[in-house]
Amino acid sequence: MTVRHHCARALRGLARRTSTWVALAAVMAPTIAATQGTATTEALRLASPDGRNEVTVLVREGGLYYAVSRKGRPIVTPSRLGFTFRGAPPLKDGLRITGSSNAAHDETWSQPWGEVARVRDHHNELKVSVEETQPPGRRFVVAFRAFNDGVGFRYELPAQDALRDFTIMEELTEFAMADDARAWWIPSFRFNRYEYLYRASPVSTLDTVHTPLTMETKDGTHVVIHEANLVDYASMNLRANKEQDRTLHAVLAPMADGSAVTARTPFHTPWRTIQLADRAADLVPSVLGLNLNPPNVITNTSYITPMKYNGIWWGMHLGTWSWESGAKHGATTANTKRYIDFAAANALGGTLVEGWNIGWDGNWIENGDKFSFTQPYPDYDLQGVAAYAKSKRVALIGHNETGMGVANYERQLDSAFALYQSLGITAVKTGYVGDKTRAGDAHHSQLMVRHFRKVVETAAKYGITIDAHEPIKDTGERRTYPNMMTREGARGQEYNAWGGEGGNPPEHETILFFTRLLSGPMDYTPGIFDIFLTSAGKPRTPEQPRPRTTLAKQLALYVVLYSPLQMAADLPENYEGKAPFQFIRDVAVDWDTTRVLTGKIGDYVVVARKAKGKDEWFVGGITDEEGRTFDLPLNFLGAGKRYVAEVYADGPGAHWRDNPLPVAIARRPVSATTTLRMVLAPGGGQAIRIRAQR
Ligand code: NOJ
Ligand code: CA
Repeated sequence: MTVRHHCARALRGLARRTSTWVALAAVMAPTIAATQGTATTEALRLASPDGRNEVTVLVREGGLYYAVSRKGRPIVTPSRLGFTFRGAPPLKDGLRITGSSNAAHDETWSQPWGEVARVRDHHNELKVSVEETQPPGRRFVVAFRAFNDGVGFRYELPAQDALRDFTIMEELTEFAMADDARAWWIPSFRFNRYEYLYRASPVSTLDTVHTPLTMETKDGTHVVIHEANLVDYASMNLRANKEQDRTLHAVLAPMADGSAVTARTPFHTPWRTIQLADRAADLVPSVLGLNLNPPNVITNTSYITPMKYNGIWWGMHLGTWSWESGAKHGATTANTKRYIDFAAANALGGTLVEGWNIGWDGNWIENGDKFSFTQPYPDYDLQGVAAYAKSKRVALIGHNETGMGVANYERQLDSAFALYQSLGITAVKTGYVGDKTRAGDAHHSQLMVRHFRKVVETAAKYGITIDAHEPIKDTGERRTYPNMMTREGARGQEYNAWGGEGGNPPEHETILFFTRLLSGPMDYTPGIFDIFLTSAGKPRTPEQPRPRTTLAKQLALYVVLYSPLQMAADLPENYEGKAPFQFIRDVAVDWDTTRVLTGKIGDYVVVARKAKGKDEWFVGGITDEEGRTFDLPLNFLGAGKRYVAEVYADGPGAHWRDNPLPVAIARRPVSATTTLRMVLAPGGGQAIRIRAQR
């Protein structure tokens, strides 16, 4: 859309409104100068291309505020912006707006892999220049972008004598929610790795929580606060005001000395994003965060391949194998070859091997500096295994657990990745168990954000993709570095082997879809068929940790929980001879398009995705502890074409608690005019492959 169109639309919207604090000039001219005193001034305004989302910016009593509304209803009421610094006065008072500029942008770009192949970046931009009226007279810009799926803004600090080297103690950004929306949240600053069960409560009750923070307002609007392009800055958490109002405050993850960010101008912060949708199902697929990241910098993306993989992994979580050396050591040459054979025979692209390297003996969470990332244990023939994998055309996936010993890892990065490259290893899973660095920097501090970027950049140099566990949260960096493929960053399937509260409750994944997964792909490690975990010894009761799902739901997770690297997590022997395993062999891992057919946070979700470059669709539906039935029009299929659906449904009497295993497999002809009845058992799911008939 051109600037002129944008202005015309903005003017139409303006005529509808009664508010007097909108500066007409701001929307009429691409650049205007607004003179402001220290009293309340006129506001600047920005609308999304569809006119629904609006941002207003104003100075009130010397403070800078922004507000966001959707379809004329306030979502975020005027909220403060600013910073406090070490050794310098806060940047928040005595401000005036010295100028502003508008721009419009409409471009469609392609990504090498994703939930959608093509992404439209359609937004209007408002840049507001601000200055302190009193010494030190510092200047900054706040850039706002309004998209149809939400808004983003960031601070830009130009180079200037009054602001050169600086240390941010606090970012004063507020999100004053217009209503006491229901929020689905996980706490932050406790066990600092995002690995919690979600809870739902009104915004006013929140302590410090992680983003993305998904909220539903009283009128059903869905609002998600997160950030984009988190680079060389501390992760943002959100804290509700102690006075129990509805204002969320940015809280930056601290370094050991209590500071948040040390940098030098010119500088800009990550984008603060507010995703907006009229209903939960419209939150996905979200491209807001991707659009706020710089374009891909990797020219040769040939090594970046979405795939399914198995791994020497679940056995350790069950306790039958160990990462450590000794009688139970999992990563032996013979075991690995068996896994590679299984992958080769079953259309899995890769095999992950954990515990292959020296350093796991002793307390590996506390002794992160003991890990070697090049030296294998004596019973693991690294060279031989790599050659074997190559001969079977299976990608060997390396594993680097750091135990938060990031300095030790950084020292070895180049030599380790060079070794992997020479062996044909093009994917590495990293791990960061531990809440802080040795020195006491928070898991999500600026130091760790820098570290993660360094790993991704070094990996790109050696043609390696990354799957990070205990990561920094996803803020869309895969657009710039598509070798950053997937991450855990939530309470994953591993908790079903050993986690508290009996594992993940049946509703867990129906919440993850609308919260954690909004930030990007998740390596949830689906596909556990031995649901009673008999391979760990005797069958587990529903009260003991075990997957609280039906087997059909484990299949559906491959479609619902998007990841370009998707694990077949169970032991090979638990798949042998099992008919439902065919779905895992068949399911795609890269998509042209994604559609949420229906969904309610914490209750259920049904997703359809079209396999990249094929007339083939996969549908996944999951429910919480309640059984549910949906009638699904297949109107997304090609008009007038014939398809066949292969349905993997919960079998008769299936129930997550005591009868999770029955799967009813059926084939039936379908077309775009078919309405498919999907019946889900309590804690159940359904997975469907739909192929075009020739
Ligand atoms: C926790 C990770 O989530 C898991 O996948 C891994 O096996 C262990 N750490 C060991 O690195
Ligand atoms: Ca984990």
